[in-house]
Amino acid sequence: RRCFYFDDIPSTNAFMLSHSEELESGDVCIAEHQSAGRGRRGRKWVSPYGSHLYFSLFWRLTDGMSKAMGLSLVVGCSLAKVLKDLGVAGIGLKWPNDVYLDGRKLAGILVEMKGQADSNCELIIGIGVNMAMPDAQGEVIDQPWADLQGLAMPGKTEFAVRLQRQLQADLALFEREGLKAFLERWQASDSFIGKPVNLIMADKVETGICRGIDEQGALLLEVAGESKSYIGGEISLRPA
Ligand code: ATP
Ligand code: BTN
Repeated sequence: RRCFYFDDIPSTNAFMLSHSEELESGDVCIAEHQSAGRGRRGRKWVSPYGSHLYFSLFWRLTDGMSKAMGLSLVVGCSLAKVLKDLGVAGIGLKWPNDVYLDGRKLAGILVEMKGQADSNCELIIGIGVNMAMPDAQGEVIDQPWADLQGLAMPGKTEFAVRLQRQLQADLALFEREGLKAFLERWQASDSFIGKPVNLIMADKVETGICRGIDEQGALLLEVAGESKSYIGGEISLRPA
């Protein structure tokens, strides 16, 4: 597979999206700096020069978005495995797209797609991992964050190679068996399972006990003894 490497680029995800016709599943884009790194719902991803991993992987799904639902959960499982295999303790997953270290945000996942539900669907899987946050940059992030500084880590290139291999294997498994093949792995790393959480939605906040995810990737919440499920991108999970 190919790797497109940039010193400076607006966003590795934006690059992959605009070149998707020429790409093959497993191709990767990496940059040292992103001038317009992005998170979910138009939020900014703080991307200082040389400090972190900015990584996007291209993947073409053959039968569309039905399978793409839950994909960011699979990617979270892949990244958690890479980190755990490198000996990082304290890794946790937060539905639907965050990886935490000791309760603070270490990495974010942004899956963007091109194509319709019933035709070939192109996925751009963007991952940002904080390696060593410069002080001034940490101050502009409006939530607790973590980085991998002080831990024995391989260089960014080896990290990216491990991530690419893990994603290739996990995405192929996801295409064959769906999200059910990942439920145990998700459960083992879910930061909030069994804990009280708030689900912040556009028009309301729901409070309950987090019960993990189902086979569609929906978040399961127990509210006053009743089980409810939530799908969709406009929801933020927070500890209650
Ligand atoms: P949710 O997805 O539950 O709404 P979120 O608040 O983490 O959670 P996202 O859109 O997933 O929102 O991520 C973007 C947010 O991540 C930013 O608004 C900022 O708070 C935080 N952020 C930005 N850059 C970094 C970074 N390098 N490391 C950690 N956190 C960051
Ligand atoms: C989030 O937590 O909202 C997701 C953040 C995703 C950041 C990565 S960095 C590489 C790729 N390029 C981007 O512009 N965003 C993703």
